[in-house]
Amino acid sequence: MNSADKIRVTILTSELAPLAKTGGLADVAGALPKYLSRDNRLEVIAIMPRYREVKKKSLLQKLVFENLQVDWPASEKNFSVYQARLEGFTIYLIDNEAYYDREYLYSTPEGDYPDNGERFAFFCLAALKSIQALNFQPDLIHAHDWQSALTLAYLKHRPKADGYFRKTKSLFTIHNLAYQGLFSPDILDRVGLPEFLFNSEDLEFYSKVNFLKAGLLYSDAISTVSPTYSQEIQTPEFGFGLEGVLRKRADRLFGILNGIDYQEWNPETDPALPAHYSSDNLAGKSICRIELLQSFNFPVETSWPIIGMVSRLAGQKGFDLLIRSLEGIFKRPVYLIILGTGEKEIQNLLLASSKKHSERFGLKIAFDDRLARLIYAGSDFFLIPSRYEPCGLTQMYSLRYGTIPIVRGTGGLKDTVVEFNPKLLQGNGFLFQEYEAVDMLGAIDRAISFYKKEPAWSKLLDNALNSDFSWEKSARNYFELYQKILSF
Ligand code: ADP
Ligand code: GLC
Repeated sequence: MNSADKIRVTILTSELAPLAKTGGLADVAGALPKYLSRDNRLEVIAIMPRYREVKKKSLLQKLVFENLQVDWPASEKNFSVYQARLEGFTIYLIDNEAYYDREYLYSTPEGDYPDNGERFAFFCLAALKSIQALNFQPDLIHAHDWQSALTLAYLKHRPKADGYFRKTKSLFTIHNLAYQGLFSPDILDRVGLPEFLFNSEDLEFYSKVNFLKAGLLYSDAISTVSPTYSQEIQTPEFGFGLEGVLRKRADRLFGILNGIDYQEWNPETDPALPAHYSSDNLAGKSICRIELLQSFNFPVETSWPIIGMVSRLAGQKGFDLLIRSLEGIFKRPVYLIILGTGEKEIQNLLLASSKKHSERFGLKIAFDDRLARLIYAGSDFFLIPSRYEPCGLTQMYSLRYGTIPIVRGTGGLKDTVVEFNPKLLQGNGFLFQEYEAVDMLGAIDRAISFYKKEPAWSKLLDNALNSDFSWEKSARNYFELYQKILSF
């Protein structure tokens, strides 16, 4: 196929694995262009900021433009663009020292960077400028989360951009509606957007400017990361005040379940693991389990199951429910191992409990990809009690590593985990619905009642290991959505 006939897509994201990651967005933004690029009807590039941690990566980064400028009132205007090659696609990195050469991506342990509004508005403007400099006229811009959302406002409300992007369509993907990018009204002027946008039909939201709203209002279509979440966000319980805006656009709102990268997350090859295994031979999983127990100084000769968790320590992830249930959990014959970073208060409550139950509760406060993988592989069960969950990748990783998920039935968790039915020997995990300790403990009890009980246990493991969440399917769904958007 001639490159002129291909659909040109530009993906805008504030994080992308393996270059910079705070959560699932990075995994998705890394896998999406990789798998889309395998389709020769598409030509895909990605753009993201060049953070300090990106600069440190051993990957070759070639300077392609120096001293480009964004056209806005703030004094910080200059940026450079670096190009790097990842599997299957090219990524362009927006380099500006003042905004991106920092220790963290969005926030320090003390809180958000106060200039996040300018930082990500700059990213959006610089991305548009880079596309022009590269002369990569996209058929479609695919922007992710609030950090990239203002691109849609610039395309609609900055006449200068009109000519070049006149035919460009857009898709905005919500990975998490709770993070909206809220700033005081004077931000509009500072980032070069007209002040009239400060009204409730545009970007105003309870006296603040809401960046995410630009993505919801000015895109040709909106998607979220699971079918269930695409419905949930149209209700007051999950809409975070934006349910009305979303309902108005319901005919342009789609739910596409994330995949996981089966190459990157593979117990047969994962270099982070002390032993490898597959659904045909699980011997290596026992070695991972022993290493996990050892790394938390637990006895290795135990018949008790390990319940693992790898999570941001945030309200979304159900830690208030977990903390209320800890005493109940430790009345059961289990080990609990948690890896996470995040809110101080949650950390302190978990630390206090892990001291009290030190022979049962292993806690590591860190962002540690290697340990995360050992937990996916070495645990028997994986707990996700989320209050809400747009998609959730960790239940899919645990399934892939033969670890049985115990999850609350919300969002993407509901779309990926099916309650085990011991009569039919169907299902790949355990679910509970009410956000209550008795319900969660009930699911844990059901789960441990099948632990190593044959024939149920082997069948459950089989079902887990054979669950299919490969990216090929999700990429196909995105391709079909792109085609639909181009026909609007
Ligand atoms: P979210 O994006 O809401 O945090 P997801 O389930 O989509 O949730 O993705 C979380 C991703 O971040 C997974 O890849 C998970 O392994 C990773 N992760 C979360 N916390 C940690 C941590 N403390 N150390 C290493 N990886 C982590
Ligand atoms: C968000 C959501 C999570 C989802 C991830 C990737 O961070 O919280 O549920 O899996 O984005 O789409």
